[in-house]
Amino acid sequence: MPETLTIIDNRTGTKYEIAIENDTIRAMDLRQIKIRGDDLGMLSYDPALMNTAAVKSRITYIDGDKGILEYRGYPIEQLAENSTSYLEVAYLLITGELPNQKQLEEWCSDIQKHTFIHENIKKLTEGFRYDAHPMGTFISTIAALTTFYPEAKDIFSAEMREKQIHRLIGKATTIAAFTYCHSLGRPFVYPANDLSYTANFLNMMFKIGESRYTVHPVFEHALTVLFILHADHEQNCSTNVMRSIGSSHVDPYSAVAGAAAALWGPLHGGANEAVIHMLDEIGSVARVPSIIGDVKDGKRKLMGFGHRVYKNYDPRAKVIKKLADQVFAVTGKNRKLDIALELERIALEDDYFIKRKLYPNVDFYSGLIYEAMGFKINFFPVLFAIPRIAGWLAHWQEHILDQEQKITRPRQVYLGHRGRTWVTIKKR
Ligand code: ACO
Repeated sequence: MPETLTIIDNRTGTKYEIAIENDTIRAMDLRQIKIRGDDLGMLSYDPALMNTAAVKSRITYIDGDKGILEYRGYPIEQLAENSTSYLEVAYLLITGELPNQKQLEEWCSDIQKHTFIHENIKKLTEGFRYDAHPMGTFISTIAALTTFYPEAKDIFSAEMREKQIHRLIGKATTIAAFTYCHSLGRPFVYPANDLSYTANFLNMMFKIGESRYTVHPVFEHALTVLFILHADHEQNCSTNVMRSIGSSHVDPYSAVAGAAAALWGPLHGGANEAVIHMLDEIGSVARVPSIIGDVKDGKRKLMGFGHRVYKNYDPRAKVIKKLADQVFAVTGKNRKLDIALELERIALEDDYFIKRKLYPNVDFYSGLIYEAMGFKINFFPVLFAIPRIAGWLAHWQEHILDQEQKITRPRQVYLGHRGRTWVTIKKR
């Protein structure tokens, strides 16, 4: 069976033979399809890049129909179950292999060396309004790191890349916690590097007054699992932004800030915050049927439902649901859980949702856990961005080292005016 695709252009009757590799054709091969010799040639039109593979990647595998998610070949359920630290999974994503004991210790130590931030960054945080959305502060502060580490622009030095990776992962939690403390007028808590990545973060967030703050082991575990689940998700909106910005060869701080901005939107990482607002607005289980009715009438969306790739179930949502029980056993049940469960129950039995293959995604239950743990609702997107930094950096590095890649520059189908003649302002 030849690995080719035959295309006949019925405008000209010309036949083209196009190579198939990995079940794809190269869009550039369509360019030979022309009516006249000076034509640009055929383009493929793909709004929202629904059917365009723009990269070859070895980082994360998703089979949306079967509900499979793997990082570097390891199923997400196994990583969530067995990995004892987020940094171990970050290492896997970035280097491609699970670390041995020595590698893990070195990796953790390298990152912990970079958890402190320059005092001027602290002052920068203080410059934001106390009621600023934490994601706005987080994005801006990450972007500002580029002004402290100008050597980061040396992106083709492996040593320099590694250093910025350590810095970005190390400082992300400190910047996030300082953002949080600033919004509440609390004193900043400096990193405690004898704690795990997530315990140190919880310590910086919630320690106030006590000489020795004890991080609850259930919360530390829950946050570790949530960070693992959010660490990467192949070519999603923000990762595509990370790769696209990185393709211009800018430094990784600028690229991560751009990716985090893409993550913030309510259709992406901002959905966890939107879900809680939605549950608050619904207010009671009794109102669920009327909300479902509004969704079916096209008046609103069910936040935390639906996914571009998962059309069966989101495997992360399954892990999170189990985790929720462990956290609620400590905190008491989040009163919004009953509303969420009823929404899920009715939606999963309803034809509208069944036909469109709409299932709860990772964000449907994560916010309920975060809220029970004491995080403020508008902080949820930051809790998504912190772990996703490892994924963004893995993709950034893969992208800039890929010899087939160039600066990202899609084409357009131009439908506007052409060749108009200037009209003076009085005559318009
Ligand atoms: N509630 C109600 N209807 C929905 C929802 C929803 N949450 N999501 C999709 N639909 C409907 C659409 O209206 C459409 O119906 P139609 O065929 O009658 O027009 C159909 O399902 C297909 O939806 P699309 O918009 O084509 O799906 P797409 O793949 O473009 O969007 C997305 C995916 C953005 C996640 C969407 O499902 C959504 O907006 N969900 C709510 C926001 C959300 O939870 N985002 C988090 C995603 S996970 C993440 O980023 C971490």
